[in-house]
Amino acid sequence: MSQADDIGNLFHRFGASADSYKEINTEFEFLEPLPVAVVPAPPPTAAPAPAKPVAMSLVETKRPPVLAALPAPVLTAPSVDSNEDLSPGTSLRDRLAVVARDRRAAAEENNRRALDNALRAQPPQRPKAHVIVVMSAKGGVGKTTTAASLGKLLKRTTGRTLVLDLDPQNALLSHFNLPRSTPGINQARLQDAGWDGIRTLTENGIECLPFGPSNAADVRAFDAQLAANPAWLMQHLATLELGADDLLVIDTATGATPWLHQVLGVANQVIALTLADAASYRVLDKLQAWLAPLRPGTCAFLVNQVDAQRPLSLDMAEVLRQQLGDRWLAALPLDHQLDEALAYEYDPLQQPLDSPACQVLRAVAHDLAQRIEQYREETSAS
Ligand SMILES: Nc1ncnc2c1ncn2[C@@H]1O[C@H](COP(=O)(O)OP(=O)(O)OP(=O)(O)O)[C@@H](O)[C@H]1O
Ligand SMILES: [Mg+2]
Repeated sequence: MSQADDIGNLFHRFGASADSYKEINTEFEFLEPLPVAVVPAPPPTAAPAPAKPVAMSLVETKRPPVLAALPAPVLTAPSVDSNEDLSPGTSLRDRLAVVARDRRAAAEENNRRALDNALRAQPPQRPKAHVIVVMSAKGGVGKTTTAASLGKLLKRTTGRTLVLDLDPQNALLSHFNLPRSTPGINQARLQDAGWDGIRTLTENGIECLPFGPSNAADVRAFDAQLAANPAWLMQHLATLELGADDLLVIDTATGATPWLHQVLGVANQVIALTLADAASYRVLDKLQAWLAPLRPGTCAFLVNQVDAQRPLSLDMAEVLRQQLGDRWLAALPLDHQLDEALAYEYDPLQQPLDSPACQVLRAVAHDLAQRIEQYREETSAS
C-alpha cells in the first residue's frame, strides 16, 4: 500500500477528506533513550559493546520564535558542556555522551517543529455554510418541529440546504417522510465513513442527514468519540464540503449532552426553545448559562406552545419576553395542527391555509433569512 493510500485511509477514519492534505516535511525522528547515568559511572568491568555509528544531524537546533515558549527538553546533564572545548583529557565515554545528548536535543526540536507545522497545516475549520442550531434544556418543547420547519422555510435557492439530526431519538426524518430505517450518522460511524454518503434528498429538495437507527452501545460510542476529540463534529461536517451559500440546520438532543459544546462551536445562530410554563422557567438560568459563551446576537429564544386560552400561559410568555430582552425571537402558539400533521404524515407548511403556528414560523424564518444575509454581508466585507 502506498503512502498516499495510508494518508487517505487515515483521513477517512477521522471522517475527513485527504483532498486538502498537503505534504509537509514532518521528519519525525525516533528518539533513542539517553545513555543511563552518564556521570558518575563505575569503569566498565566487561568490554563495552562497539559504539553504533552516530548519524550526523542536519537539523537546525536554534529554537524558532513560535517554539520559544516551549519548555526546553529535559535531559540528563553530561559532565561536559558541548559548547565548551572538550579538554584533551575528556574521556571517550563523556564525548559520546555529549554527542548523544546533542543528537537527542536536535531530534526533539525537530519533532516539536514538525508537530507545530502539522497542526498549522490542518487546523479544524468550522464549516463555510451558515449553521443554525436548535436546542433546549427540556425535552418535548418543539426542537425537532422547529428544526424541520426552518429547514423547509429557509431552503436556499442558490445553495444547498441540509438538516442534520444529532439526537439518537432519530425523529427528524419523520418530518420529511423518510422511513425510520434510513441510514444516518450512526451508520456512517459504524462504517468509519464520512457523512457525504448518508445525505438523503427529501421531497422538499432538502438534504436530510438522520441520526439513523441506534442502540445504547452506539450512543455510548458517540459520547466516547466526542469526549476524546473536541473537533469531532467539525471534522465530520468537513466531509460534507459545505460552501458559503449553503445552509445547515441542526436538531439536537435535549440538555447538556456531549454534543452541546461541539455543536455550539459551529453555530452561527442558535435557536433556544422553551415553553411558557413554570417548569421551563426554572431551567431558564441553566439554559442561559450554557449559551453565555456565545457572541452577542448569536442566540434567540422561541417560546413555544403559548396557549391563548389560558391567562397563565400568556402571562408566562410575557415574563419570559421581559426577561429575555433582545434575545426574545417569538412566541409560537399552541397549535394542534402540528401534532396532527406528524400523526397523519402531512406537511403543515404545505396546507392551503397556514395554521397559527405556521404563520409564526414563516415570520421567524423571514427574520432569520435577513440575519443570514446580514451575516453574509458582514463576513464578505471583512
Ligand atoms: N406549537 C405547538 N403546538 C402544538 N404542538 C406542538 C407545537 N410544537 C410542537 N408540538 C408537538 O410537540 C411534540 C414534541 O415536539 P418535538 O418533537 O418537536 O419536540 P422536541 O423538543 O424535539 O422533543 P425531544 O426533546 O423529545 O426531542 C410533537 O408532537 C409536536 O407535534
Ligand atoms: Mg426532538
